[in-house]
Amino acid sequence: MLEVGICGTDKEIVSFEYGTPPEGFDYLVIGHESVGEIVEVGGGVSKIKAGDLVVPTVRRPCPHPDCVACRQGRQDFCYTGDFTERGIKQRHGYMTEMVVEEERYLNPVPAELRAVAVLVEPLTIAEKALAQLWDIQKRLPWACPEDGQGPGHCRNVVVLGAGPVGLLGAMAFVVAGFNVTVYSRTQSHEDKDDIVSAIGANFIAAETHDVEQMAKAVGRIDVVYEAVGASSLAFEVVKHLSANGVFIFTGVPGRKGPVQVDTDFIMRDMVLNNQLIYGTVNAPPESFAAAIRDMDIFMKRWPGAVKSIITGRYSIEDALEPLSGKGGGIKNIVTIAHE
Ligand code: BGC
Ligand code: ZN
Repeated sequence: MLEVGICGTDKEIVSFEYGTPPEGFDYLVIGHESVGEIVEVGGGVSKIKAGDLVVPTVRRPCPHPDCVACRQGRQDFCYTGDFTERGIKQRHGYMTEMVVEEERYLNPVPAELRAVAVLVEPLTIAEKALAQLWDIQKRLPWACPEDGQGPGHCRNVVVLGAGPVGLLGAMAFVVAGFNVTVYSRTQSHEDKDDIVSAIGANFIAAETHDVEQMAKAVGRIDVVYEAVGASSLAFEVVKHLSANGVFIFTGVPGRKGPVQVDTDFIMRDMVLNNQLIYGTVNAPPESFAAAIRDMDIFMKRWPGAVKSIITGRYSIEDALEPLSGKGGGIKNIVTIAHE
């Protein structure tokens, strides 16, 4: 393994709020966002060879014969909940020097992407969300004629949150042609605003604009890509979704107290405007391939902005610092091996 990223899921695991060790172990090796280099391959391997860079997927199928999702390699849609996840649920992860993995779970990455390949896994969240968005919106005339611009060019997207999932999602939506606005608090990191403007998206700061003012500034909100995990904010923004709009949940809120939500208003609006809300988790190999393709486009268009998402690199000895939330910044990673 070369590098492993740290996210909210890892922080929850190290504070014992989430995660399960493999059977027979009283500890779990964490790490599910990663990039590694192939050292050696077995006899049946044909698509990768020693020296290749790879990003592994996270989820492994459940054992149930009647889980049609897992039986077709779509464990990201597992029905039973008995899937496992490397570094998260009943399987050791990648924050270690050497890993043995099956070829079908490894996604080859071009050597030019070495510096940012550790961001591929968090980008797969947006790629899976986008693939579903295009499928779902086939229910109506939605995409616009492509005059050299991406198919989303006539649609406005609001990204909630400017953490790694939000920023990488914003980049993927820009590449798909959408007009993107990122709505986030700035105080924790001023560079977020710079990254957002570098990619040609708009930044609206939550400190200066409440949800109402943000919605007014954007105009018609066709899509919301939620990447904060704050339900009260999400349901506040739902009220401003346009006709035929889609709201995508990717954040996992912690359990706080109950919040007040105007359910009649939201339900009425959803029905009378053909709106849709969906949640999405994990990603299949197709989304890893899409993320690797998009990462290459990002690096050609905005190399500085992409690299500046990684704000901290730590040795494995110092990994507890970012894991306990003391790292700050946007994305912290742990360096396992140096070239
Ligand atoms: C990972 C997903 C995983 C989810 C739930 C996320 O941090 O990116 O792959 O499915 O946690 O465990
Ligand atoms: Zn399953």
